[in-house]
Amino acid sequence: MASRIRHHVNPLSMRMLEFDPEPLALSERPIHVELGCAEGEFLFRFAAAHPDYQVIGVEIRKDLVHDIRKTAQQQKVSDRVQAVFANIPIHLDLLFPPNSVTRFYLNFPDPYFKREQHKRRVLTPEVVRSVHAALIPGGELFFQSDVFDTALDAMYITELHAPAGFESVGEPWTFLRDNPYADSPTRRERFCTEEGIRIWRFCYRKSA
Ligand SMILES: C[S@@+](CC[C@H](N)C(=O)[O-])C[C@H]1O[C@@H](n2cnc3c(N)ncnc32)[C@H](O)[C@@H]1O
Repeated sequence: MASRIRHHVNPLSMRMLEFDPEPLALSERPIHVELGCAEGEFLFRFAAAHPDYQVIGVEIRKDLVHDIRKTAQQQKVSDRVQAVFANIPIHLDLLFPPNSVTRFYLNFPDPYFKREQHKRRVLTPEVVRSVHAALIPGGELFFQSDVFDTALDAMYITELHAPAGFESVGEPWTFLRDNPYADSPTRRERFCTEEGIRIWRFCYRKSA
């Protein structure tokens, strides 16, 4: 990673709360969104595996968004792969109109281990409600993490705050055994698989 890229930003700093994200150019294609896309590795792999989809990454590190856009142009896929600089808990409602997104992916979010940093975690009750509103009927939120505490917290928040008609595709309070969308593993996912590290996954679907 280039040294100019910041490894972390504080999503609760004033600088990250007081800006408006650029509007996205949404197409008629099925829209798949990664929340916290980092360098966009998943976006490009996933777009290559699914040429009919529009793939969008939401990321709070502006330099990474800039680099993803540049790569998308170089690879001539900028009509299908986009990245937007945004702070997920603050801006999600502004980015996607109701009933527009086929699936959200929250792949290996920052765990923010320290208790006083838990409030920086991306999946809040408001985000669960915004995700649900933005999904098309039958649309999904897919989550995965190799940090059990983070995954359990995310499951707790989703299970508790999911509006009616937004339900786990498996049993409630149960992690999935496998990744149902395994064709485009993220960098962290590949590392965990190679090292035999357990990954905790769940998926919620909006009723059709
Ligand atoms: C650990 S990385 C995961 C990257 C990728 N999803 C993967 O699986 O390899 C988490 C990413 O989420 C981004 N992020 C953290 N908080 C965010 C927020 N509030 N809004 C948008 N992006 C955020 C971080 O900058 C980072 O790039």
